Amino acid sequence: MKSTLCSIFLCIVLLFFPFSWGTSSALTHENFLHCLSYHISNTSSISEIVDTPNDPSYFSRLNFSLQNPRFSSPFTPKPLVIITPFHVSHVQAAINCSKKHGMQVRVRSGGHDYEGLSYVSEFPFVIIDLINLRSINVDVENSTAWIEAGATIGEVYYRIAEKSGNLGFPAGICPTVGVGGHFSGGGYGTMFRKYGLAADNIVDAVLVDAEGRILDRKLMGEDVFWAIRGGGGASFGVVLSWKIRLLPVPSTVTVFTVNRNLTQNATKLVHRWQYVAEKFEENLFVRLVLQTISIDGNKTIQASFNSLFLGGVDKLIPLMQKSFPELGLVREDCIEMSWIESVLYFNEFPSGQSPEVLLDRVPLTRLSFKAKSDFVKEPIPENGLEGMWKRLYEEEVGRAIVIMSPYGGKMSEITESEIPFPHRAGYISLIQYLIYWEEEGNVTESQMHINWIRRLYSYMTPYVSKNPRAAYLNYRDLDIGTNNNKGTTSYARANIWGTKYFKNNFNRLVHVKTMVDPTNFFKNQQSIPPFPSTWKKRAH
Ligand code: FDA
Repeated sequence: MKSTLCSIFLCIVLLFFPFSWGTSSALTHENFLHCLSYHISNTSSISEIVDTPNDPSYFSRLNFSLQNPRFSSPFTPKPLVIITPFHVSHVQAAINCSKKHGMQVRVRSGGHDYEGLSYVSEFPFVIIDLINLRSINVDVENSTAWIEAGATIGEVYYRIAEKSGNLGFPAGICPTVGVGGHFSGGGYGTMFRKYGLAADNIVDAVLVDAEGRILDRKLMGEDVFWAIRGGGGASFGVVLSWKIRLLPVPSTVTVFTVNRNLTQNATKLVHRWQYVAEKFEENLFVRLVLQTISIDGNKTIQASFNSLFLGGVDKLIPLMQKSFPELGLVREDCIEMSWIESVLYFNEFPSGQSPEVLLDRVPLTRLSFKAKSDFVKEPIPENGLEGMWKRLYEEEVGRAIVIMSPYGGKMSEITESEIPFPHRAGYISLIQYLIYWEEEGNVTESQMHINWIRRLYSYMTPYVSKNPRAAYLNYRDLDIGTNNNKGTTSYARANIWGTKYFKNNFNRLVHVKTMVDPTNFFKNQQSIPPFPSTWKKRAH
């Protein structure tokens, strides 16, 4: 049965991928499948774990957790095999066979990588898709949880709330984001001013390294454990699970969203927000969502002040009246609810929606997008904001959004080198620029939107951090630099994008990479390279 599977696979490879791979590489892939069958047969049937292009479920498996349709066109390179492990031995088999047969590996948890790095490669590659490894064990007594890497943050929030109304976790906002990529790149959300990032609250992890070894914190050592909490998992191995610290949340929290447009003083309010939001007490998070809207046929900019307060409305109102009276927040703007309900609120689910919706892994939007990030040290002056409005007006077809999240609180207390994520004290906000559009497979149109966001980014240069112009790894952006796309890695090239994501932590990450994966098996366009003496040119 296995050899039939492999022969069919060989025919399909030749049929579907005639341009890039010839007969000899097709044979390599057949050998790869034989290798997998050999290693996996003791534990399961290979057909349960492996999807090849001849399998009817191949495209649904590939596309299920693919968040950015920009990378699902017929021109996007496709994996030769998708492996969906049920057991750690399947991950080990995938690593060992990929190594033996010269395949690149892409590890996918939630599939939300902005540049599709978890499911696209220019080289013959396989995807290890962790969707079946997503159990969550919450230990209320010790305020911890073990989470497998294929879980989403929505599943994590739901499982915590199921056990306790007074525990939560400070990760991102969108529930379909996977914990494999999110925690290994940082992970911030509505509670990061109070508790820091998701990665700041990881206490143990299990990793399968390039040798196929299973390592917990003790076995991997503190350097590797440091690197995978913010340095991106994809450079160091396959993270199988995380142990996280759960944190107190009150029984009642308060949320509000106050919208102001340009006729309602939006520019002055946004300007003022920059002075106050990072100084609010750490229980209060007020982010800004900026976009163009139309009122009676006239375009204007809408600034939405979108907030979570870890406490009741009676405490929030005086606090806002004292610190930010200009916004004019009133009790009627506010809604009290439980923390888990606030997760639904931030995702704009209708009031009364059951939290079970957080278990749904289907992405909330299916629009193509390109994003970029910046960190701000000094308030952007009003005329700088006005220039941003002008550019937002220019993007007519797509949906352009700028999100500004306030820094301060716990984020300023953690040192730059505590974990690889270095963006701490000294910043007042993190900006995310996003442009969404319907993907019609029209390359020129996609390019038009991408060019727009690049122009906006260029315009923002004087107003944001410099030397380096800092960027957030989880808002992956290949414009800021890539490794050599022939598959070899240059330290000098990687240093360009590496210092933007990691500042001085980049060199320590290179040291760790050299220790844990000296032959650079785990690599992609923005993976950490080992030190030059260990570079190995790979021919595939
Ligand atoms: P995906 O599976 O695509 O992996 C991302 C990267 O991590 C890839 O390089 C992949 O190979 C690697 N990787 C994944 N699993 C791994 C594993 N088990 N071991 C080793 N490497 C692994 N961020 C944020 O901080 N706050 C937020 O609120 C949001 N909100 C948000 C909303 C939406 C709609 C999107 C698309 C993204 C966000 N993000 C975010 C960004 C998000 O944190 C980022 O894209 C994460 O890397 C996504 O992790 P996934 O596991 O989903 O991605």
